[in-house]
Amino acid sequence: MDASTAVAADMPEPIDLRIDSDSLARHVESLGAIGAQASGGILRPVYSLAWRDATAQVAEWMSNAGLDVYRDAVGNVFGRLAGSSDVTILTGSHIDTVPGGGRYDGALGILAGIEALRVLRECGRPKQSIEVVALCEEEHSRYDTGFWGSRAILGLIDPQEPDNLRDQQGVPIGEAMSQLTLDPAQIASAHRRDLTAFIELHVEQGPTLEAEHKQIGLVQSIVSLSMLRIVVLGRADHAGTTPMNERSDAGYAAACIAREVVDLTTRLGAPAVATVGAWRVSPGASNIVPSHVELLVDVRHPDEAAKRQLVAAIGEAAHGIAKRTSVSAVVSTRADIPPARLDPGMVGVIERGIQAGGYSYREITSGAGHDSQLMSRHVPTGMIFVPSASGRSHCSEEFTPNDDCVRGAEVLAHSLYELAYE
Ligand code: GLV
Ligand code: MN
Ligand code: MN
Repeated sequence: MDASTAVAADMPEPIDLRIDSDSLARHVESLGAIGAQASGGILRPVYSLAWRDATAQVAEWMSNAGLDVYRDAVGNVFGRLAGSSDVTILTGSHIDTVPGGGRYDGALGILAGIEALRVLRECGRPKQSIEVVALCEEEHSRYDTGFWGSRAILGLIDPQEPDNLRDQQGVPIGEAMSQLTLDPAQIASAHRRDLTAFIELHVEQGPTLEAEHKQIGLVQSIVSLSMLRIVVLGRADHAGTTPMNERSDAGYAAACIAREVVDLTTRLGAPAVATVGAWRVSPGASNIVPSHVELLVDVRHPDEAAKRQLVAAIGEAAHGIAKRTSVSAVVSTRADIPPARLDPGMVGVIERGIQAGGYSYREITSGAGHDSQLMSRHVPTGMIFVPSASGRSHCSEEFTPNDDCVRGAEVLAHSLYELAYE
């Protein structure tokens, strides 16, 4: 035996984890049709009828892939490939969308997970069980909560929340669950204590990978994010008879505040970003001076201290503008999510998965929030990014070519193989 044969004999057989690319493309297409709006984009908020249909569809695909399917108390749907021990490696992402959202945000992580488990199943029984999950809610799109699905898994839902969290129509989240036969009294049963790892595949939602011709993003960290609510209170008056200097115009004050949010953030410079993404104006008629405006503001920076300073500056500016314009302003925090550093061991596993496929890649920081952000505080967590065409996301134009999706799914399969089989 010469030296090269001896080395070859010691090397592990390369494993063939070829992803079913047609199945992945078909599922992206079909899931994207559930909740599709005539005006473009998808509307699939948690516990809506579109959400119900999407979870049922995903459960069917999991079952067709040979997985054992079940749903937990909050409606997270799992497909399980049982291993020889009781501990579980989890992959997946969220099934809810923002209003007018795209086909890939969240959905791709679930569908790629199904394809990865389909091919892994052919490798025989893993040592650790592997599950793919469709997490029920991540986007804050219906309730002032994000990560409802992963919070349930981590045992982080407060018993008061089912009654206290209400949507714009005043429907408590517990009632929305009951309407879909989910029992809010059982939420604590969703808490998992058997997880050894979480790995999420997601579209980048930004322009970097495409611009640099990289096939995969190896995520190192996730941005810090604060969601603020600024309520501006003025006085309703007749738009035709009230002199300009006698108004208490909540609309004007809100516009000044929104401008200052953007100006402060621009002055601070990249990578700070801030967005005034939702305005609710009351009474909301062109011939009434607005008495009440609610602004929802999103503030992000990879550095926690820098984000906090920006949030404080926005609060100060809002109060200063309110005083100057004879209104009042109340600033509150809807969500405050610290940055996350992903687990170095998991990053290493994913990097080897990328190298197994021979793909080009770069390390990357996520500017978007993810379930992984929360999971990483409790379970070793890693994330795989695939490119987003022109960096577009949270819009109907969101697109990732199927070849990129397949490459990501293959990296996911390799990573899960190393974690569960070796
Ligand atoms: C989630 O998509 C977020 O970053 O807002
Ligand atoms: Mn999103
Ligand atoms: Mn997402």
